[in-house]
Amino acid sequence: MRGLFITLEGIDGSGKTTQVNALEKWIRSRGIALHRTREPGGTPLGEKIRGLLLTDEMTPLTETLLFFAARAEHLAKVITPALERGQWVLSDRFTDATYAYQVGGKGMAPATVEDLERLVQGPLQPDKTFLFDLQPEVAAQRLAQARAADRFEKESVDFFRRVREAYLTRAERHPERFVILDASQDPAVVTQQMLAEAQKWL
Ligand code: TYD
Repeated sequence: MRGLFITLEGIDGSGKTTQVNALEKWIRSRGIALHRTREPGGTPLGEKIRGLLLTDEMTPLTETLLFFAARAEHLAKVITPALERGQWVLSDRFTDATYAYQVGGKGMAPATVEDLERLVQGPLQPDKTFLFDLQPEVAAQRLAQARAADRFEKESVDFFRRVREAYLTRAERHPERFVILDASQDPAVVTQQMLAEAQKWL
């Protein structure tokens, strides 16, 4: 049987990494074969592209193409083979992030991203997506206390307001796979709510 494809999304500072760790632990503790991965990245070439994306200035179109280039490699070499082997795949971000950051944040035309999505993914979509929703002001405070900011984390609160709205629009359009969690709560509470949802997949 084909594995489950799960993605986690949210603006920078939403506490997503803590929750990916918790979900990974929970899935493995159930004895389920899992491949954990991330975007941009997930393959040796994808990780090199990630380095460029997080540091080098480029046009929004170049950026969008690089995210999809890394994704094409990720799908062909990692995600599709793992799902076909029956493994679950847990990815820290996927194409919803491109709609949120490049369309919502940077103003790329949705039709461009839709075309690239069709080209790179065909009909493949995540089966389940958790969206860690948080006010950008709170996320910015959390990030200020964290490590040095990358190119995206340096964006304005207004940018992240647009990214958040675009994520919420994605969730509205795809209610069959999205679960929105309020990331302003205590992280342990967010984890509990996430795992209660995951329990339903078994
Ligand atoms: P992430 O791994 O979440 O950052 P960190 O390692 O700091 O937790 O993602 C890296 C950045 O890339 C993040 O700011 C969001 C951005 N991004 C896009 O803009 N578009 C995309 O399609 C993806 C996958 C990520």
